[in-house]
Amino acid sequence: MRPVVTPPEKSLALPMRSDSVLKRLRSRRSNLVKGMVPDKEGRFGPNAETLSDILTIAARVPDHRKLTPWRFIVFEGAARAEFDQHIGRVFKTENPDMPEDRVTFEACRLQRASLVIAVISSPKDCVRGTPKWEQELSCGAVCQNLLLAAQAHGFAAQWLTEWYAYHAEINAVLGLGTFERVAGYIYIGHTDAVPLPRTRPDINTLVQNFGTKLAGSKRPDGSRKSET
Ligand SMILES: Cc1cc2nc3c(=O)[nH]c(=O)nc-3n(C[C@H](O)[C@H](O)[C@H](O)COP(=O)(O)O)c2cc1C
Repeated sequence: MRPVVTPPEKSLALPMRSDSVLKRLRSRRSNLVKGMVPDKEGRFGPNAETLSDILTIAARVPDHRKLTPWRFIVFEGAARAEFDQHIGRVFKTENPDMPEDRVTFEACRLQRASLVIAVISSPKDCVRGTPKWEQELSCGAVCQNLLLAAQAHGFAAQWLTEWYAYHAEINAVLGLGTFERVAGYIYIGHTDAVPLPRTRPDINTLVQNFGTKLAGSKRPDGSRKSET
């Protein structure tokens, strides 16, 4: 399937406050795969049009010199079970003493969700000098956009790597080049599990104004943190 190729935009809007976007970003939370209910009661993954929109949004990220240093592998329907067989096989070979139910779990990983998208970091040799590091950062932004787009379409979504993202044999099944890596498997589906709150960092401990010590730096609201 191919993402929609949009014609070059003639003009885009100036920055504009959006309370709905701010509200969504302030409360952003992943939906854990273990709470997803795949393809039950008529609840399926995104249809072709929605998936195309999700992927198109995902690809709309900062990308220094337009290198598109990433690509997608979509697992839909029976393709999930087909790939899961490889995960199960590799797991069983490397863990021959594991109980059968654990092997079965491994052999059903992608089937926990309705649809899974592997985001592949695919950095280019840039003659003009865009560093690989920047290309990998762009790929991370793709993953985050995928999550946001899937959730904005009403789907549960989580970014996982688990062990198989780092396994050479599994990556060979995916056909990855030696320069490529899995940035994440984005699981997309449905859930009835309202996410539990997760502790978030105290932003005051992370921000300083240049030229000040971290402990004495100004908070984003303008107040000062105590020196103690
Ligand atoms: C690159 C990357 C890989 C991740 N892999 C896993 C994983 O394998 N297993 C897991 O439980 N969470 C993993 N996470 C974390 C979850 O996606 C998620 O961020 C976490 O559950 C916290 O939820 P939040 O996104 O609502 O803050 C990963 C996150 C990132 C950025």
